[in-house]
Amino acid sequence: ERGGYATFMEKEINDQPHAVADTLLGRTDESGALVLDEVRISEEQLRAVDKITVVACGTAAYAGMVAKYAIEHWARIPVEVALAHEFRYADPVVDERTLVVSISQSGETMDTLMAVKHARELGAVTVSICNTHGSTIPRESDAVLYTHAGPEIAVASTKAFLAQITAAYILGLYLAQLRGGSYAEDAQAVMRDLADMPAKIQDLLGRMDRVKEMAEFMADTRSVLFLGRNVGYPVAMEGALKLKELAYIHAEGFAAGELKHGPIALIDAGQPVFVIVPSPDTPHDLHKKVVSNIQEIRARGARTLVIAHDGDEDVEPFASEVIRIPACPPMLAPLLAIVPLQVFALQLSTAKGLDVDQPRNLAKSVTVE
Ligand code: BG6
Repeated sequence: ERGGYATFMEKEINDQPHAVADTLLGRTDESGALVLDEVRISEEQLRAVDKITVVACGTAAYAGMVAKYAIEHWARIPVEVALAHEFRYADPVVDERTLVVSISQSGETMDTLMAVKHARELGAVTVSICNTHGSTIPRESDAVLYTHAGPEIAVASTKAFLAQITAAYILGLYLAQLRGGSYAEDAQAVMRDLADMPAKIQDLLGRMDRVKEMAEFMADTRSVLFLGRNVGYPVAMEGALKLKELAYIHAEGFAAGELKHGPIALIDAGQPVFVIVPSPDTPHDLHKKVVSNIQEIRARGARTLVIAHDGDEDVEPFASEVIRIPACPPMLAPLLAIVPLQVFALQLSTAKGLDVDQPRNLAKSVTVE
C-alpha cells in the first residue's frame, strides 16, 4: 500500500506530480475556457463578490496565503486569510458579497467547519476546497471545488498542499475570466503554464540527493529559519511547519523583508537559513531584494541554503548551498519550491529515527475545537 516506499509520506511526496495533474483535469472546455461544474453558485453572485476570506488551519492556511497573492493578482478581488479558529471568535466583516473559501484536506477539521457555519450565518457565500468526497465541510458549504490528491495518510500534509494551491489558482483564474479584468484573457495561458507543472515537479523529485545528504548531516541542528517574499513567504512558513511536525526542531518562517525589523538579531555564525528566491523575472525587482537579503545574513555568518530557479546565477556568491528548481512563472513557483523543504524535513526526521507518518502529539484530522 506504500507502493514500495518506506513511509506513506515518502510515497505522498512522490505522488505530487499526479496530485497536481489530477486536480487540473477537466477544468477547461474545448475552447480552453475555464469551467467549474462543481461550483454551484450563480455567475451573478460571483460577479457581485467584493471580498474573499480564506479560512483554514495548518498547511491548508499556507495554501490560503498563496491563494491570496494569486487571486488578488489575477482577479483583482481583495483576499484576506484567517486562521479558522481566529475567524470564528472575532467579529469578521462578512456579508452577502463576501466569498468565504475554506480549505481542508480532510473536510472534517472542527475549527474550519465552525468558521464555515459562522460565515453562512453571517450571509456569506461559501466554497470549500477539499480533498475528501462527502466529508462534512463540503456538505455544509454552498459549493465545492475538489482537489484530487487521492487519500493522504501521513499526518503531515504534502501532496494535499500542492493540490490545494492548484485548486486556488483555478479558482482565481475562473474568477478573473468571469469578471473580465485584465487577466481574463491570460487565464487560458496560465492554465497552459499550470499544465506544465507536473512534469517540472517530476524533474525536481529526481534531483533530491543533495537535499537528503544535507538533512543527514544536519540531524543535530536545533533551529532552522526560512525566508521568502510574496508567494515564497507561505512556502517559508510551510517549510518551517514541516520541520516542526516531522523533526521536532524549532523552525520559523519569515517574510524576508521583515528580517531587518527584528529576526536578523537571531542570525549568528552557523545559523542555517533556507531562502526561497523568486524567479529573476518576478515583478518589482523582488529577485534582487531577496538576493540582497541573502547577502545580509551571509555577512553575519548564516549558513545560507538557497532555493533558486535553474539559470539564476546571481545567488551563487552568497549561497552556502544552492538547491535548483526548474524555471517557471513566478506565481506558480510554490508548487516547486516547497518540494525540497518537504524532502529535507522527511529525511531529517528519518535520520533522527522518528516516526515520519505519525509524529508525536499530532492527529491527521482534528475533530474537536
Ligand atoms: C492539522 C493537521 O491538525 O490540521 C495538519 O495535523 C493539517 O497536517 C491541519 O494541515 C488542517 O487539516 P485539514 O484536514 O483541515 O486540511
